[in-house]
Amino acid sequence: MFKTDPATPDLFITPVAEVFIRNHLESHPRLDRAAWSLTVEGLVERPVRLDFPAVLGLPQTRFTAVHECFGNPLHPTVPTRAVTNVEWSGVPLSAVLELAGPLPEARHLLLEGADTGDFGGESGVRYLKDLPLDEARSGVVLAHTMNGEPLHPDHGYPLRAVAPLMFGTNSVKWLTRIVLAADRPDHIFTTRLYTRVLPGESEARPVREKDVCSKLLSPGDGSAVPAGSRELAGYAWSSTEVTSVEVAVDDGDWQPAALDRRGPDPSWQRFRLRHDLAPGPHRIRCRATDSAGRVQPLTGDRNAVHEIHVVAEPAV
Ligand code: MTE
Repeated sequence: MFKTDPATPDLFITPVAEVFIRNHLESHPRLDRAAWSLTVEGLVERPVRLDFPAVLGLPQTRFTAVHECFGNPLHPTVPTRAVTNVEWSGVPLSAVLELAGPLPEARHLLLEGADTGDFGGESGVRYLKDLPLDEARSGVVLAHTMNGEPLHPDHGYPLRAVAPLMFGTNSVKWLTRIVLAADRPDHIFTTRLYTRVLPGESEARPVREKDVCSKLLSPGDGSAVPAGSRELAGYAWSSTEVTSVEVAVDDGDWQPAALDRRGPDPSWQRFRLRHDLAPGPHRIRCRATDSAGRVQPLTGDRNAVHEIHVVAEPAV
């Protein structure tokens, strides 16, 4: 179901070749852009069908955003830390919706991909996600490039949705159909999987908004480094700005790391801390807090504190 992740490189923009690929269904469409089209239907004044040149003719936008996989929906609390930061360009969904004119009773928006297959005991399934219409209208972009290049076929060529503040599962690849509806569709990828109960809540909600999280990337996990003063660094991200990151070495105190501001795009934020590593093995952990006051839990959830192990080697 999931391909092995490349290691996250310690770069602000993740090269396309290093971006993880998540396909739930067997068919990995190889679509012909000249034959491709996107329909907008359901509760709209005018159903529309757009070919690729028509998409390019609409207003374009470009931004950098964290692209993060929620993890395996069958094991929603297990951390996978599949995360990258990429630049997208495409058309705001709002521009496409304006052409179709949503009716007042439309409350939900369904995004459907061209892939089909079997998943979770169901066969002949399409990849489908739904979002509240207002949230989708203000936040979703229909992207045709990643890092300035046309989307790779594995990343949804020729057009995919990107919901920059949400987990990657909402960013439907190989997008061919948008449907406006009054109610949420009951479907394996909408109501039956990809739901979770957040701490302090009693009802399951769909997996949408990203959690606060951070990942140590330098030094690399399992690496050997010269003993002495070393920079411990990585990235932190959330659906809102991250306001602090702390780093702990072995059983030492949590120390505040220097943290870059987020800027106008929902990118990840670099953190760094200099620390004197004595010769020997070390455990290094990082913990982020966001502007909503959310803090990474120490254990027990998919965004639990990240920990790496390194060996500091004495100078010879
Ligand atoms: N869209 C389609 N059509 N089919 C899929 O299986 N996987 C989703 C999402 N969109 C998926 C999809 C999941 S779970 C994630 S994390 C992201 O795509 C991964 O995007 P990527 O493979 O381009 O990195």
